[in-house]
Amino acid sequence: MSFTVAIDGPAAAGKGTISKAVAAHFGFAHLDTGLLYRAVGAQTLDGLDAIKAAKSLTPEALARSDLRTPAVAQAASKVAVVAEVRAALVDFQRAFARRAGGAVLDGRDIGTVICPDAEAKLFITASAEVRAERRYLELADKGQDVTRAQVLKDVKERDARDAERATAPMKAADDAVVLDTSTLSINDAVAQALALIEQRKDDR
Ligand code: DC
Repeated sequence: MSFTVAIDGPAAAGKGTISKAVAAHFGFAHLDTGLLYRAVGAQTLDGLDAIKAAKSLTPEALARSDLRTPAVAQAASKVAVVAEVRAALVDFQRAFARRAGGAVLDGRDIGTVICPDAEAKLFITASAEVRAERRYLELADKGQDVTRAQVLKDVKERDARDAERATAPMKAADDAVVLDTSTLSINDAVAQALALIEQRKDDR
């Protein structure tokens, strides 16, 4: 039996942390769909065509060590505007969502486009300032040479591009529960997400 949890929201809102915790708690598989776009974006920085890269994604491309850099994040957001790139990635995501034993997918369009029938949908958000500070600390911790101002600018630029594109823009599905983590601890945010999913499981 499959059970799909769709977790969407902007960069650094806490999607990744919450998705991993949900997957671990329920024993579900987890797919960070942003990685697919990052792997395509990274290849365009090497000069490859975005659509070709999306149609021929390999496990090696998904395992590159530079996928978490700010340059690749921006490139990912840019290739994500291209409808053919998005179309090339749909089947893989849907098959993952329907695997037996349950799945958590996090991204921007999971609850709206990829899995509109997901059993549980969350939209995780937080103010741009809070998200930029979290992302800054994360990157600085990894030794990356970034400033707070640059990270805030990057976050706002990516939010605007992701939310304003014509194909599958980032937005909360009508039936998603919106969780604002601006003033929540990680533990509280995770607890709220788990409670919602428990409830959806009971409803079945
Ligand atoms: O979640 P992330 O920051 O790793 O995502 C990187 C970019 O990929 C994001 O700015 C937009 C794009 N993306 C998308 O368009 N749809 C998704 N489901 C996931 C990511």
